[in-house]
Amino acid sequence: MDSLKAILSQSPEGQTVTACGWVRTKRDGKNISFIALNDGSCLSNLQVVVDKENDSVSNETLARCGTGASLQVTGKLVASEGGGQNAEIHADTITVLGDTSETFPLQKKHHSVEFLREIAHLRARTNTFAAVARIRSAMSYAVHTFFQQNGFFYVHTPIITANDCEGAGQMFQVTTLDLDTIARKELKDGIDYTQDFFGKKASLTVSGQLSAETYACALSRVYTFGPTFRAENSNTTRHLAEFWMIEPEIAFCTLEGNMEIAEAFIKFILKYVLENCKEDMEFFDTRIQKGVIETLRQVVEKPFVRITYTEAIEHLAKAADSFEFKPVWGCDLQTEHEKYLTETVFNGPVIVTDYPKEIKAFYMKQNDDGKTVRAMDILVPRLGEIIGGSEREADYGKLVARMKELGLKEEDYSWYLDLRRFGTVPHSGFGLGFERLILYITGMANIRDVIPYPRTVKNAEF
Ligand code: 4AD
Ligand code: MG
Repeated sequence: MDSLKAILSQSPEGQTVTACGWVRTKRDGKNISFIALNDGSCLSNLQVVVDKENDSVSNETLARCGTGASLQVTGKLVASEGGGQNAEIHADTITVLGDTSETFPLQKKHHSVEFLREIAHLRARTNTFAAVARIRSAMSYAVHTFFQQNGFFYVHTPIITANDCEGAGQMFQVTTLDLDTIARKELKDGIDYTQDFFGKKASLTVSGQLSAETYACALSRVYTFGPTFRAENSNTTRHLAEFWMIEPEIAFCTLEGNMEIAEAFIKFILKYVLENCKEDMEFFDTRIQKGVIETLRQVVEKPFVRITYTEAIEHLAKAADSFEFKPVWGCDLQTEHEKYLTETVFNGPVIVTDYPKEIKAFYMKQNDDGKTVRAMDILVPRLGEIIGGSEREADYGKLVARMKELGLKEEDYSWYLDLRRFGTVPHSGFGLGFERLILYITGMANIRDVIPYPRTVKNAEF
């Protein structure tokens, strides 16, 4: 069975084809009915023309072809007389594979994204959500293509872990202990995790980085691409509790090399989507965010701006009055600051480096000034941060000292410290939030709408 995409790419010469799909709309004329059929293989519908005089499609069958019904249609593919499509199928037979009814929630009218989120199990049958799904798939392929072409090995880092990579305490605990029983007992000495499934406290990973580092210190260039979890109470359009992250880790590489790879990587994905997802991108460009294609093209062409955190604060200080959070040296950059830098000052992506060590994770390489670390975040207009990365602290003594300052127990990270004990090398890496890049590319406004089933604070439906 050919997909509608394959059928629509044939030249229509009256050949007999069979098409399957779901009815988007049906228009009944006096002698002719038009059915718009879609199977999700591409944005376009196939127009099915039914001649009511034609005995092989009964009025009874036609009456069952309402919005949402699934059909198998056989007929002749001919050039279309009406505008809007090249080819249409003149139906000889229609088999209703699955009936629908008037209660099907996606009747022909505009539905808000908020309403569609409530029917996330059906929203992929709309143009917008099907286009997002296709772009997401193409981007996943592009991610693997970029790394495989550049000598990186794909490593599957664990989902369940005993380490808090970011040290932010935002982990979801994984346990088989019976919480009800524990709640009823008075536990003077706390919970005995030796009785738990893993024999110690375990959680869902916030980042595969630490494990990726161990493989980078063996295979030189690796990446992970998988789900990560954060129990942060951030109810924004950019935060998910379960999101997908791409994390390359590169041995024999300093922060400069890391930035080069990150920039080349983003540009590769943008280019790939512009070249391979033309129909869907035109849809986003006209219906979701005007001009997004041209914006992405320009991003691909121009080098990313690079500034230090200290320079960023200087830029922000000039507009200090316009911010809710005053930008002072040492503060974490807020989204309003990131938007100001990318939208007002530089009008494009910006790489900010050398952040204060207090606001960054323990593993980052310390600069000689004693105050900053070799961190880099990539910020983009509309969204702020899409990449966070750094050169890693390769010096055993400095890393242990920093861990002590932060109250991290050496014994919990002994395997990680082994990388610095045996053949330590300069190495770097970063993490890209996959859904944030999808938002950037599609122009979609809310991160809940670029993942099939979003998990956010107080929401794990479907
Ligand atoms: O800046 P983050 O926390 O960095 C790390 O986790 C590093 N261990 C990565 C590394 O160096 N290997 O997260 C990286 C990116 C962010 O820039 C953002 O794009 C995304 O992950 N991200 C989220 N995306 C959606 N929802 C959330 N709650 C996110 N938190 C981070
Ligand atoms: Mg970050």
